[in-house]
Amino acid sequence: MNLDEVVKGISEMMKHTLDKSISIIYTSKVGDINIEVDKSLVENAIMNLCINASDAMPEGGQLELTLDTECLHERLQTYSGYLEEGEYAVVTVRDNGKGMNEATINRIFEPFFTTKEAGTGVGLSAVIGVIRQHNGGVIVTSQLGKGTAFQLYFPMKTGIEEKNIKEEKKREMNGYPVMNILIVDDEPILTQVLHQFLESKGCQVKSITDSRLVAHYYEDHRDEIDFVILDMLMPYLSGTEVFERLYAIDSNVKVLYLSGYTEGVEIPEEYSDNIIGFMEKPVRLNQVYEMLIKVD
Ligand SMILES: Nc1ncnc2c1ncn2[C@@H]1O[C@H](COP(=O)(O)OP(=O)(O)O)[C@@H](O)[C@H]1O
Ligand SMILES: [Mg+2]
Repeated sequence: MNLDEVVKGISEMMKHTLDKSISIIYTSKVGDINIEVDKSLVENAIMNLCINASDAMPEGGQLELTLDTECLHERLQTYSGYLEEGEYAVVTVRDNGKGMNEATINRIFEPFFTTKEAGTGVGLSAVIGVIRQHNGGVIVTSQLGKGTAFQLYFPMKTGIEEKNIKEEKKREMNGYPVMNILIVDDEPILTQVLHQFLESKGCQVKSITDSRLVAHYYEDHRDEIDFVILDMLMPYLSGTEVFERLYAIDSNVKVLYLSGYTEGVEIPEEYSDNIIGFMEKPVRLNQVYEMLIKVD
C-alpha cells in the first residue's frame, strides 16, 4: 500500500468534510512509501485523528498531515509499547486547537474515555488497536491552549528484504512466473484449503469469503491480480454478479468459475477471453493449479 496516496486521499476528503474554518495541509517529506498494512484500518485510524483534531478546534484552525520516515537507532518507548530499532514510516496529525492536560493525555486511549458531551470514546482505542496490529507505535504530544500532535509509526520493510522474498518465491515456482490469485468463495474450509495449496505452489493468494467485498478490493488491486477463482453460488451476490462487477472494473479480468455442476454450462461468446473455465465441486486441487498455468 502506498502511504503517500492514502494520506493525501484523506486530506482531500477532509477538505470536503470538515468545516471551512479549518485549513488542511498535507506535506510528504519523502516519495512513495510502500508498506504492508491493512488499508481500510489505517485509513480509519488517520481519519479518527483528523476528526478529533477538528473537534479540538471549534473556532477553526490548522490541521497538518505529514508523512516522513524515521530511522530509530535505539528502542523508542511509545504509548503502545517499545519500538525496535529500524526504519519507520511516520504519519503525523497535528492541530493547533485546545490541547490536553496531563490527566487527559493519560487516559485518551482507554475505551469509552471521552471529554465530549456527545463523545463515544472509542476513536482512539481503535487507533491504538490498529497500531498494535501493525507492530507500530503511537506518540502524543500536547500543550494546553496550543495544540496536539499524534505520530503514528509503521515499520517499513527494506527493499532488500522484499527482493529476497520475491526471489525465493520465483525459485519455488519451478520456472513458472509467480501467479497472483484472488479466491472468492463463501465456504471457509474449501477457501482455506485451496489458499494454502496454491501458496504451497508459490502463488500469491488472497481470499475473500463475502461476495460484497470483492469489487471494492479488486478496484484497488486489479493490477496485481492475474486470476480470480470465483464460486458460482454465494450469499448476497452470485458468481455471475461478482464477475459483472469485476468486468466493469477491468475488461481483462480472468476468472475460473467453481460450481456445483458444470454440465450444460456454456461460456458466453463475449466473455470467452475472460472466463478460463468451469470446475466442478468438489475440486481437485492440482487440477485448479494446472488449469491456471495453462493460461498464458
Ligand atoms: N486532537 C485532540 N485535541 C485535544 N483532545 C483530544 C484530541 N484527540 C483526542 N482528544 C481527547 O481524547 C478523548 C478521546 O478521544 P476519542 O477516543 O477519539 O473519543 P471521542 O472523540 O469520542 O471523545 C477526547 O474526548 C478528547 O478529550
Ligand atoms: Mg474521536
